Amino acid sequence: MTPTIAPTARLIFALALLATVSLTTNSALAQSALFQPLYEVLTHPRCMNCHTVTDFPRQGDDRRRHAQLVVRGTENQGAPTLQCAACHQDQNVADDAVPGAPHWGLAPLSMGWEGLNANQLCQALKDTSKNGNRSLADLFKHMSEDELVLWGWTPGGNRTTPPLSQPDFVEALKAWVDAGGPC
Ligand code: HEC
Ligand code: HEC
Repeated sequence: MTPTIAPTARLIFALALLATVSLTTNSALAQSALFQPLYEVLTHPRCMNCHTVTDFPRQGDDRRRHAQLVVRGTENQGAPTLQCAACHQDQNVADDAVPGAPHWGLAPLSMGWEGLNANQLCQALKDTSKNGNRSLADLFKHMSEDELVLWGWTPGGNRTTPPLSQPDFVEALKAWVDAGGPC
């Protein structure tokens, strides 16, 4: 009898091994799945309209080019003759027609995220040569406290907000940072 049991045992062992391998693969997927909810927020128009790779900001959910021929300018603050601050105040004004928050301006080109897939955006976000030399802890602080980020959830008018609520975003952010920022 033993000779027939041995191959069965080997088969069971092999199956168990296979199961372990696929479990490992799944947990790798689950890790980068921690970035997925962040990706959905970061690529929302409220964030992306400022994180462009173009020489101008964008507007609206259709992410059209900003009106009034507004340009990036050398300091990401518009042309010398037409600065962002000429229209954008520290809060939404004119019945929310003009959105506003402190230090309103375009994100520098190195922080432009247009066209990046989840993995590329995750890598760019953590790249200290691009992100303003921020550690994961700095990124957490910026994305949970910065006034331009918070504006994304209080954009005024009938502007839409990111798919996660602000507290849920902070929670997802914490889980990602605690896990070491997997991509
Ligand atoms: C009005 C324009 C504007 C909006 C809207 C905006 N940002 Fe930014 N963002 C900036 C600017 C400007 C900087 C650079 C500031 C700095 O480095 O201190 C920046 C920097 C960042 C950084 C750090 C740099 C990096 O690449 O890691 C993160 C993260 C970020 N923003 C996330 C967001 C998220 C998330 C939203 C939406 C909820 C958002 N931003 C909305 C203008 C904007
Ligand atoms: C001449 C006035 C004016 C100037 C200058 C100006 N903006 Fe705007 N901006 C507006 C108005 C008005 C809106 C609202 C448009 C709407 O909601 O249809 C707007 C909307 C936006 C939005 C869209 C918000 C969203 O997600 O829909 C962004 C981003 C933005 N501006 C960035 C900038 C940046 C960055 C600069 C400087 C480089 C700038 N603007 C310069 C008037 C201006």
